[in-house]
Amino acid sequence: MPPVAIDSIRAAQRLDSRGKPTVQVEVTTSDGIFTAIVPSGASKGDYEAIELRDADSEAFGGNGVLEAVQNVEEVIGPALISHRVDLTAGLKEIDDFMIQLDGTPDKSGLGANAILGVSMACARACAAARKVPLYEFIAREMGSDTRGYTMPVPFFNVLNGGVHSGNAMSFQEFMIAPTGAKSVTQGIQYAAEVYQELMSLLIEKFGKSSIGIGDEGGFAPPISQPSEALDLLMEAFQRSGHQGHFHIGIDPASSEFFKDDAYDLGFKASTSNVKTKGEMADLYHELIQRYPIALLEDPFAQDDWDAWVAFNQTCQVELVGDDLLATNLVRINKANEKKACNALLLKINQIGTVTEALAAANKAFELGWSVFVSHRSGESTDPFIADLAVGVGCGHLKSGAPCRGERVVKYNRLMDIEDSLIAQGQQCRYPGEHFRAAAMAPVHRG
Ligand code: PGA
Ligand code: ZN
Repeated sequence: MPPVAIDSIRAAQRLDSRGKPTVQVEVTTSDGIFTAIVPSGASKGDYEAIELRDADSEAFGGNGVLEAVQNVEEVIGPALISHRVDLTAGLKEIDDFMIQLDGTPDKSGLGANAILGVSMACARACAAARKVPLYEFIAREMGSDTRGYTMPVPFFNVLNGGVHSGNAMSFQEFMIAPTGAKSVTQGIQYAAEVYQELMSLLIEKFGKSSIGIGDEGGFAPPISQPSEALDLLMEAFQRSGHQGHFHIGIDPASSEFFKDDAYDLGFKASTSNVKTKGEMADLYHELIQRYPIALLEDPFAQDDWDAWVAFNQTCQVELVGDDLLATNLVRINKANEKKACNALLLKINQIGTVTEALAAANKAFELGWSVFVSHRSGESTDPFIADLAVGVGCGHLKSGAPCRGERVVKYNRLMDIEDSLIAQGQQCRYPGEHFRAAAMAPVHRG
């Protein structure tokens, strides 16, 4: 394969789905121009790589990213070009080079938003240099066999709470997963039908003003109890004729309401409702018994290790670490030693390069965990994570509701990938309720 060089790297400040600035990167090679836009979280963990925000409080309320843009254009770009990387050789050398150039453990030198933008755009440029789709390039970077693919079961966050909405619901995400569908395309149809039914149900129960949506496209009705949200979902499944076709995932994002060694479920309401760790564990066990819950993410706060460890001993469902692990090998190893969880939430901007995110996924598989690919609440119309989930072969992905352009662009890309795999006669498996097992033994892992 003839070598392909980077001709230029440009960056610009653009908007994310919350109307806040973010970094866009364009890498030009002899194959064309490859663009990426970086996402950003709201319920950020303490152990995430650092995104640079400008000190200038006059612009975007201090949220500008011009310094990160400048770091791409004046530092990273020129250094990478003079390092003469060959894109056909893969992404690792590029990402390792940027990690060295930054020189800090949390990427606060050049900014994780600057570095990740280059990493994502270069991943696309590498895939083009090798003349393969992005998901196939990612599978190869993972060291996987690419003769067949496991598609991800999509988890749609249809009821938004926590710091993603203005209602009094403390739990951040209630996700529905079409585990009874036969394909991604059918699963997306089922979820879109439930979503529309949920909208009608909310109008009936709470009036039209209740169908405003939160950051991830889910509704944010005037409810505060997790059981109220779950009852609404059960009714929407039934009314849409999809009872039995879905499992449910919950992300309370509990680091956001952990204070003085306890959890305040009333943190957004006028009165507090403080629960001990034991009471929280009891609440989760009760919900798991009553509803078809298959996944629980961040039920306890990022440093509440004892609560995680105790809960993991009896937890019957997938127990996913988001803030707990921050897509970081050090945190993953610590959680494994303590036996604190059984799954990794994979967010590329938590660690700051695609290569490190893939290493985190491989480590999780090695530990016998599952991997759940995730968007951020502040997203863009970049569908990168759809290819990521297919390439990693992890069996499930979350990208918000079947609503809002920055969410549906990922689901639409998944359907495109599924269609093209089928058209090429490639093996393309939808794991349904076995989304976790798919993660541990995807068909394309050697
Ligand atoms: P965030 O939320 O992007 O605001 O952190 C997503 C999540 O907690 O999974
Ligand atoms: Zn989370």
